[in-house]
Amino acid sequence: MACLPIVAQEKAVIDLKPQKETWRIEKEIYGHFSEHLGTCIYGGIWVGPGSPIPNTQGYRNDVLNALKNLQIPVLRWPGGCFADEYHWRDGIGPRQLRPKMINTHWGGTVEDNSFGTHEFLNLCELLGCEPFVSANLGSGTVEEMADWVEYMTSPADSPLANLRRENGRNEPWKVKYFGLGNESWGCGGNMRPEFYADQYRRYATYCRNFGDNRLFKIAVGPSDFDVNWTEVMMKNIGRRMNGLSVHFYTVHDWNAKGSATQFTSDDYYRTLGKCMDIDNVIEAHKTIMDRTDPEKRIALMVDEWGTWWDQEPGTIPGHLYQQNTMRDAFVAALSLMVFHSHGERVKMANIAQLANVLQAMVLTKDDKMVLTPTYHVFEMFKVHQGATFMPLDIKTSHIVTPDKKVIQTVYATASVNQQGVMHISLANVSLDNSCEVTINLNGVRVKVSSGRILTSGEITDYNDFDHPHTVRPESYSTVKAGKDLLTLTLPAKSIVTLELPAADK
Ligand code: AHR
Repeated sequence: MACLPIVAQEKAVIDLKPQKETWRIEKEIYGHFSEHLGTCIYGGIWVGPGSPIPNTQGYRNDVLNALKNLQIPVLRWPGGCFADEYHWRDGIGPRQLRPKMINTHWGGTVEDNSFGTHEFLNLCELLGCEPFVSANLGSGTVEEMADWVEYMTSPADSPLANLRRENGRNEPWKVKYFGLGNESWGCGGNMRPEFYADQYRRYATYCRNFGDNRLFKIAVGPSDFDVNWTEVMMKNIGRRMNGLSVHFYTVHDWNAKGSATQFTSDDYYRTLGKCMDIDNVIEAHKTIMDRTDPEKRIALMVDEWGTWWDQEPGTIPGHLYQQNTMRDAFVAALSLMVFHSHGERVKMANIAQLANVLQAMVLTKDDKMVLTPTYHVFEMFKVHQGATFMPLDIKTSHIVTPDKKVIQTVYATASVNQQGVMHISLANVSLDNSCEVTINLNGVRVKVSSGRILTSGEITDYNDFDHPHTVRPESYSTVKAGKDLLTLTLPAKSIVTLELPAADK
């Protein structure tokens, strides 16, 4: 008789806390970022109206459809580091007359400016998402920034609004989210925090609200644990900003980031330990913000986050093209859960980046497109967008990572939407053990329903152009109801979202 492998089973208990204070999970937490970098814009989103690749006004149809299905709420553009070298006037008017430039940050690629302000803002309208324009404070002038705001948003009979009309857009666009610079402590000008704060105050003064457009101004924030930067912004800018950004990448060693697809179990657990640092990073900046802004009027926006691996062998240096495995899916799931849990301060997060760059949603090659495991997490979790956060406690075993960080075996998050439907998302990060989970509902009355699961044979599994469906969600229906509780089994390395409609009275 063949011996069956002994598979250990973990146990976890989740307690819903319906009485605890709560908040809305802003839909912008599911935001995205598209930089002029590698093939994120050109090839990934934009192929131009004359392309043989099926497109709508120049935007690839396959990518448009994938993004619509994600219900993407907000898109940040044009950078990143590129933003502080971008001069918006180069990207308007007839495409064949637009000047070219060299994208010095990202591989020295020639940028032909065929994707500019109109192409970006029209894309946001097609997707039904808010634009987040990241403006040049590093190498651009105050006048240039002020003029851009007027060009995009003014309804007046003014020279700049009329120039926009000449270029084919009569009505002003609505532009809410407006970033003044990017990483000004680094690629955006290597500024000291005091100097940046003064620059912010000066530039922001001239970024006007035209007509009924209201700018939500976002100041450059810290990277990782740079709490001094946050201290200075809160002191020297304060309520002149609506939001403060923060950047956090799941990278262990910037000099040896490691392969996206070839990694060991130890590498995987180390990555999750690093990923969970985002919780401590947010906590550190929140603590400082709470001191001078206890009413939480200034939002914290994690406007760049995600994994950053060595670029795929054979791809163009500086284009940051990387594959995306189930490991990336876990980084996405755990990060989104952390953002939910800080939703009283964190109002936006933008994963880097949308297509073909870093932890992408989609990868494209000529006329082919694949959805990544990260895409599937965003799609399974989209039900939490705009829903009310349901606090919960988890009792679970823990895993000690090779670098001695302690992570949970099971993570979970829950929310209730406007229709009263509760969604619970769970992740069992163990590579070896399944986990029997009990959810104590504590009086929340729901109907047992089904859910969806994302898992795969190997944690290194990914989708590529020859095997586009190796990793994809399946239906999941093994939830059992007891008295005021639910039980379910999470297979090893699985991510699940349950849909639980309110029970009939
Ligand atoms: O997302 C890639 C780069 O990472 C961005 O351009 C920059 O802001 C960050 O350092």
